[in-house]
Amino acid sequence: MDTRGVFISLEGIDGSGKSTLARSLVDALAQKHQVLGLREPGGTVISEKIREMLLDVRNDGIIGKAEAMLYAAARCQLVEEVIRPGLDRGTIIIADRYLDSTVAYQGYGRGLDLGFLEDLNRLCTGGLKPDLTLLLDLDPQEALLRRSEEIPDRLEQEGLAFQIRIREGYLDLWDKEPERIKRLDATHSPEFLLQEALLLVEKLLAE
Ligand code: TYD
Repeated sequence: MDTRGVFISLEGIDGSGKSTLARSLVDALAQKHQVLGLREPGGTVISEKIREMLLDVRNDGIIGKAEAMLYAAARCQLVEEVIRPGLDRGTIIIADRYLDSTVAYQGYGRGLDLGFLEDLNRLCTGGLKPDLTLLLDLDPQEALLRRSEEIPDRLEQEGLAFQIRIREGYLDLWDKEPERIKRLDATHSPEFLLQEALLLVEKLLAE
């Protein structure tokens, strides 16, 4: 994939602090670079509509495969409409979740076939993978405590066992692709995590 920009995704279980890091990373990088922060599912008008459908607690009838395809549809729209054009313009893209979320949540969490999800991901992105993925790793019990004040969305209602399987999924992905995926210990302070993330990004930019 010959693009001029840099593509970075952030991953982790619910409550891992990923969205906080994504925001502070965008703010810090924006001082010197052209940066675009995105969240998944979302980031385009169509993808935000799909997001509403996916996170609505009333939609408890969505079957696993359909759920995976809806996430893929939202991602397909985002890649074509925003990510590829952004990379072509030389922008640094910071995505709060990308295709590893589908493997971790729909694969390890829901138990869908990993081969099917890999094919689906390849189809919906045309093979576009992040240059760097920051995995915020946290014990699911600890993450649950951090989220105790929030109203859970449809995925968050699935409970602790679901989050434990997702974390295992992320750690397996990290094991398989240690060059791309860097694990950060999410028990550290937001300031420390930002510095760690910036070091990794600056290293990538220097390559
Ligand atoms: P969101 O409120 O953005 O959660 P977070 O701040 O933790 O990212 O909701 C996104 C939810 O969708 C989250 O529970 C993870 C889930 N998800 C999947 O199950 N599969 C996917 O492919 C993606 C992108 C997200």
